[in-house]
Amino acid sequence: MLSIFAITLVLLSANFVANGQSTVPPNSRIDCDPTPNSNQGECTSRGCIWDSNFDSNNPTVPLCYYPPNTGYNATSTTKTTATLKPVPGGVGNPYGSNYPELQFTWKSLGSAVKIQIAPVDITRYRPPVDINENANIQSSEAFTVEIVNKNIFSFNVKRKSNGVRIWDTSIGGLLFADQFIQISTYLPSKKIYGFGEHIHKNLQHDFSKYTTWGMFARDEPPDSAGDTPKNLYGVHPFYLGLEDDGKAYGVFIFNSNAQEVVTGPAPHLTYRTIGGQLEVFFFPGPKPEDVVQQYQQVVGTPFLPAYWALGFQLCRYGYTGVDEVKQTVKRLADAGIPQDVQFADIDYMDRYKDFTYDHNKWAAWPNFTDELHSMGKRVTLIFDPAIQADYDSFKRGIDSNASFIEWPTQDVVMKNINDQYPYAKNTKVMLGVVWPDKHVGFPDFLDPTNLTTKWWINEFKLYHQQQAFDGIWIDMNEPSNFGTNEDHPWYYDSSDHPDDLPLKCPTSGDNAHYDIPPYATASSFWQSGNVLATKTLCMFGTTMRGTQRFFDTKNLYGLSETISTYQAVKEVRGKRGAVVTRSTFPSSGRYAGHWLGDNTARWEDLQTSVIGAQEFNIFGIPYVGSDICGFIGTTTEELCLRWQQMGAFHSFSRNHNTLGAPLQDPAQWPTVAAATRKHNLFRYRHLPYLFSLHFAATLNGGTVVRPLFFEFTDEEATHNLSHQFLWGSNMLIVPVVTQGATTVDAYLPTGADWYSMSDSYYGTKVTSGHGNYAAPWDALIPVFLRAGAILPRQSPALTTSDARKNRFELVVGLKHAEDGTATASGELYWDDGEAWVDTINTHNFYHFTYDFQYTSAIGTLTIKQTKAATGITLPYLDNIEVFGYPSLPDMKTFNLNGSPISAPASDYSPFSQIFNITGSNFINLNTGKQWILQWKNH
Ligand code: GLC
Repeated sequence: MLSIFAITLVLLSANFVANGQSTVPPNSRIDCDPTPNSNQGECTSRGCIWDSNFDSNNPTVPLCYYPPNTGYNATSTTKTTATLKPVPGGVGNPYGSNYPELQFTWKSLGSAVKIQIAPVDITRYRPPVDINENANIQSSEAFTVEIVNKNIFSFNVKRKSNGVRIWDTSIGGLLFADQFIQISTYLPSKKIYGFGEHIHKNLQHDFSKYTTWGMFARDEPPDSAGDTPKNLYGVHPFYLGLEDDGKAYGVFIFNSNAQEVVTGPAPHLTYRTIGGQLEVFFFPGPKPEDVVQQYQQVVGTPFLPAYWALGFQLCRYGYTGVDEVKQTVKRLADAGIPQDVQFADIDYMDRYKDFTYDHNKWAAWPNFTDELHSMGKRVTLIFDPAIQADYDSFKRGIDSNASFIEWPTQDVVMKNINDQYPYAKNTKVMLGVVWPDKHVGFPDFLDPTNLTTKWWINEFKLYHQQQAFDGIWIDMNEPSNFGTNEDHPWYYDSSDHPDDLPLKCPTSGDNAHYDIPPYATASSFWQSGNVLATKTLCMFGTTMRGTQRFFDTKNLYGLSETISTYQAVKEVRGKRGAVVTRSTFPSSGRYAGHWLGDNTARWEDLQTSVIGAQEFNIFGIPYVGSDICGFIGTTTEELCLRWQQMGAFHSFSRNHNTLGAPLQDPAQWPTVAAATRKHNLFRYRHLPYLFSLHFAATLNGGTVVRPLFFEFTDEEATHNLSHQFLWGSNMLIVPVVTQGATTVDAYLPTGADWYSMSDSYYGTKVTSGHGNYAAPWDALIPVFLRAGAILPRQSPALTTSDARKNRFELVVGLKHAEDGTATASGELYWDDGEAWVDTINTHNFYHFTYDFQYTSAIGTLTIKQTKAATGITLPYLDNIEVFGYPSLPDMKTFNLNGSPISAPASDYSPFSQIFNITGSNFINLNTGKQWILQWKNH
């Protein structure tokens, strides 16, 4: 298909002239009628070019496209600014009037750059999100911007070192009307990762065709089996690119309106948004991990989860009551499966109302919570944003002047709904329908007075006194609303939901300006009949206490709820927990983690989960995972087993299941129980490493779960490796994601040596490159340790509270040099696991570094405490397992800081070259600052 495309391209690129207009080759077009059903009449009336040569081999090529001279001209320029006017005689804006004068500006943010395009003398909406727009980003590489004004204005964002153009907007197509803004650019290569939230079947985007990705927060279950690029729960206008020479860069478009991006074969992309302005950040890398860190200097580094939140978590929608939860927890414990967190879904509530619990089937819930706490386990509860309009929580909101999403004026309020509720009558609160029986209001978390957040926190406080919880799960916060604009919403046919009148938004007349904008983006038209308000509130509504339109801020609803809820955790518990949110936006990672939503129990969904978690790490939200075993539908023993194995390597590791589906906790099948026990124990053993990765991400920014190309960028084979991933730099995980497999193909980057951590060949070096590895149900999936790494670990237990008391251990993978020496290094971050973090730098934590040196004569492990905490007792370091140890060590010669010390249970195998140093109360990390353990080799 590509070659046919290339031929077409050569034929057409000879600068065609059709009807007196220069045409544009099929691979680099900007669609002039991106809605479905584009047609010639409409196209030419817009002044665009119609190509009637539909190419069935390349069906995505736009037939209606802008002529090359579409855009603006610069009427005056300085080094950093340009004043722009529409190109005389150029095509106008099909969805409004182009602003007659725009200002382009750019500035350096240290090594990064930021560009801005906005109308002159007009204040446009800008997302009220706390980002560091003046970050001073320091890198070995820098970007600069070049203003070009030939036939049309364009600019290049260039890498200074080699002149590579990260953006080159000479492709044309800049348009800027009130509700339609468009910019296009050539890309330096086809290697683009990110943009979200979507299902991507490969880590890397596919530039062999045109694809439009809507970005508009929507309550939409991911469909991993289908091919429609649907917009899902969150919005992430951020991507990472790799240039041909392997240098990485990042681009962040700071805009919160309904928007979309088209990836096209030139390679190029077209970005469109229907509000706000263009404000784009460019991060120079040059390594992928640098890009993520630089991005996080603008949007903030991720929150640090409580240690327990890294334990295994179990949930389901449809628990019949506390008894069933009790039985489930017991079943897992009996099967020896580590579990830290038990969730309750909306079932626990009294008719799905927040801050209540069902006093019949869940009457024992507060007591059982205490019991779980005494077992060292934790409880996370779901809370939805929408509050039923007739009970205490809502009344307290109204009484305390909390703000809600509102109708703009009294005369447009749906009185037939509001008048049903004394507390909502005479208010402008926009009432909708979610899970509760009656209508609900949606708190306006962007309320600048803070009264809304104050009320929200207070609700959590009051509730916590009745029913304790440790973590908070916030759902339905796109926000989701049932049945908007529908005459017969689905819940009319549900026995569990009364027939509440659905919300109706203005879809014609003067007030429809926001709900039916001239161009509603691909987010609305991938399904016929959709409008922006489908499944949500009216765009016409107001927020920020009546000062902004919901049209502009809707994508921030989840983020704003997340921030208020994060504050609630602090005020209510005073300790770290974890907030998990469904809807996210850039910067959400500062406050919460994310689960990948309502997936289906299918192999495709397991596969895309592996990609989704890598993407959310790129988005700055490393505390992420999928519903293990699959949410919708009936899972199978094999799928659930494979998903449990993979999910044990995601930071947020939770099995969750939908209403009505058969039970799927891992103790349902002996095989799944055994596999889960094995993988969870492995996870728990390596939690000190996982925690250290999270800690480092909070401190310095960066990823936890990492695509392989992040570390091995110069190996082409890693660039589109979708179904393997790393923990940090040093642990490589190869899950099984296909049905019936007993082995798995993997690529082990040749830029490192690897030791197997799995059952077969444990501790021995494996050959790097492409390989096939055994993956039976009853063994650990292939996991590899990078040579040169030391990972901190700890003897596992069935909860993290118990595991934290166990001995510390190290696993050392030696990297051998040509001269016969070998080395490895690593680090550990450690704190009490749950103290609240305000400022990570001043937080009470330990930091240790490990350095291992081997020569044929002696072995040395140096441990340095580079930062000490107070009031935290550390377990002894009692075990050090060294892989690839080449000589027979003399175990009688151990000395610590110069004094003899014995490690009687140590052993060495010359065959496996595993050297196991085991002592009891061996190294006391509580006293001293540096420990040098040494021994002689025979
Ligand atoms: C939504 C959530 C899902 C939850 C359900 C009931 O579908 O995405 O996780 O179980 O609501 O609360």
